[in-house]
Amino acid sequence: MTLAIVSALPEELAAIDAALHTTRTESLAGRQWRFGRLGDEEVVLCLAGVGKVAAATTTALLLDRFAVRSLLFTGVAGGLGPGVAVGDVVVGREFLQHDMDASPLFPRWEVPLTGRSRFGADAPWADRLAAGARRVLAQPHAALAGFGIVQAPALHQGLILSGDQFIASGAVCRRLQAELPDALAVEMEGAAIAQVCADFDRPFAVLRTISDRADDQAHVDFPRFLREVAAPYSRDIVMATLQGA
Ligand code: ADE
Repeated sequence: MTLAIVSALPEELAAIDAALHTTRTESLAGRQWRFGRLGDEEVVLCLAGVGKVAAATTTALLLDRFAVRSLLFTGVAGGLGPGVAVGDVVVGREFLQHDMDASPLFPRWEVPLTGRSRFGADAPWADRLAAGARRVLAQPHAALAGFGIVQAPALHQGLILSGDQFIASGAVCRRLQAELPDALAVEMEGAAIAQVCADFDRPFAVLRTISDRADDQAHVDFPRFLREVAAPYSRDIVMATLQGA
């Protein structure tokens, strides 16, 4: 059965797409679904689009219509945790929607009627992804120097926050850090994927390269970072993960 590899933005998936031996392409719901082989693995690649609704639509279609066995999301995120620097990699273990708030009817952050605010990644998949990331990070990417990154990139694992907001404000970033001190990174899709995968009881994992610190500088060099660092990182870590199967 097929593995789905998904990103939000074209730049995040570009290098993986270039490595795909495409066998067929389908169009559905405004998305291109590219089927083929990556190494020995049968995969479908898809761009989800940005935000929780786009991610949820994509995930539901992958799990139901295309019956994929599991889902791997790869992209960038803003760093929130104290030691989470630009160029580091985060493997998500738990996901929370930081903009979910149906209080006072339900506790803040809880997804109403599920009794949960945190949704977990599949542990064996996350373990494999972390092992793949460790292998790739052992040889730092040459492009990092072009962004003034001199320290060896680190791998972090833990809580990722998602919301329909690109966080580019020191004040908002500090509020999230104070309210959810164990959060490592913030992005716009992971927790939506986690919730849909929980509904379908299907495994998933999320890999995020840190592109910014979610502060007032967050937009600087973002497209260049996506192209030069995040895209090859995604490809190399995903390939290392699949080879380590
Ligand atoms: N993806 C990458 N950086 C981000 C940020 N600062 N906020 C939300 N999503 C992001």
